[in-house]
Amino acid sequence: MAVLQTTDLTKRFGKFTALEGVNLELNEGEVFGFIGPNGAGKSTTIRILLGILKATEGKAKIFGKDAWSDAVEIHKRIAYVPGDVNLWPNLTGGEVIDLFGALRGGIDKQKRNELIKRFDLDPSKKCRTYSKGNRQKVALIAAFSSDADLYILDEPTSGLDPLMEQIFQACVLEAKYAGKSILLSSHILSEVEKLCDRVGIIRQGKIIETGTLDELRHLTRTNLIVETKNPIINLQEFPGVQEIVEKGKTISFQVDSEHLDSVIKHISQYGVTKLESTAPTLEDLFMQHYEGKGISETGVGGRS
Ligand SMILES: Nc1ncnc2c1ncn2[C@@H]1O[C@H](COP(=O)(O)OP(=O)(O)OP(=O)(O)O)[C@@H](O)[C@H]1O
Ligand SMILES: [Mg+2]
Repeated sequence: MAVLQTTDLTKRFGKFTALEGVNLELNEGEVFGFIGPNGAGKSTTIRILLGILKATEGKAKIFGKDAWSDAVEIHKRIAYVPGDVNLWPNLTGGEVIDLFGALRGGIDKQKRNELIKRFDLDPSKKCRTYSKGNRQKVALIAAFSSDADLYILDEPTSGLDPLMEQIFQACVLEAKYAGKSILLSSHILSEVEKLCDRVGIIRQGKIIETGTLDELRHLTRTNLIVETKNPIINLQEFPGVQEIVEKGKTISFQVDSEHLDSVIKHISQYGVTKLESTAPTLEDLFMQHYEGKGISETGVGGRS
């Protein structure tokens, strides 16, 4: 069942279109990575889902309810962490965690204390004295000690050090194994790679790819470096082969993943003496999208 769903979601600020026809679906028990460059529309989408912004067109639903008109009902079952947490300056971290908990109908005290330890937070300090990272920790502890069904996290680890990033990742996985659903907007690719079952890539207000990481990797190319006894003939005529560079006996080129098998079969006829391949990294894939050279646009994979 879809826990969260947007259908043709469009948001205009005056003449500026921030979102155009955004379709997203988060299934129960899934961690969905929401990624894309700065200004792409991630936070705008999330604000609509939280009922803070009203969509210009289209629908945003959580638990089958309307994000705008049923916000009160929805908020009983969700926890939200933004990338820039503002807290009551004169309350201590511990007080704020409990206040968030009370707003959400109570928290698990044991879980709260355990998380304070794991995140190494001193809850007795006034929030005005906390660094950015410590403010993030307060919000994360409040979120993960609440019994939400859906966690909406918008760049939640900005400002966390690498050790705390690991704690955060463990918390997300624990929530997932407990059957919770998580929408995670992030620029940290290792985080996305480690945590997300599926990702959606947004650019200039439009979703340009959605799928599992494996599905997205399939759309990429592998780099090959080959040496053969006899010169390879007709390589440039093979479908999916690009960027051929010959240096003496060595030839290097790129192959679309879907054509890899037939290309390998072909070159094996020429007596392969050396074969090196580098798999496309997730980073290569994301960079193509971030820079706007979407795979569809460069002709790989044939999606549009
Ligand atoms: N209240 C507003 N009025 C006018 N334009 C806005 C408003 N809020 C957002 N925008 C614009 O909408 C676009 C999407 O912004 P959004 O904050 O959703 O991006 P984002 O994907 O979250 O980026 P980042 O990765 O930097 O957080 C941006 O061009 C932004 O300037
Ligand atoms: Mg944002």
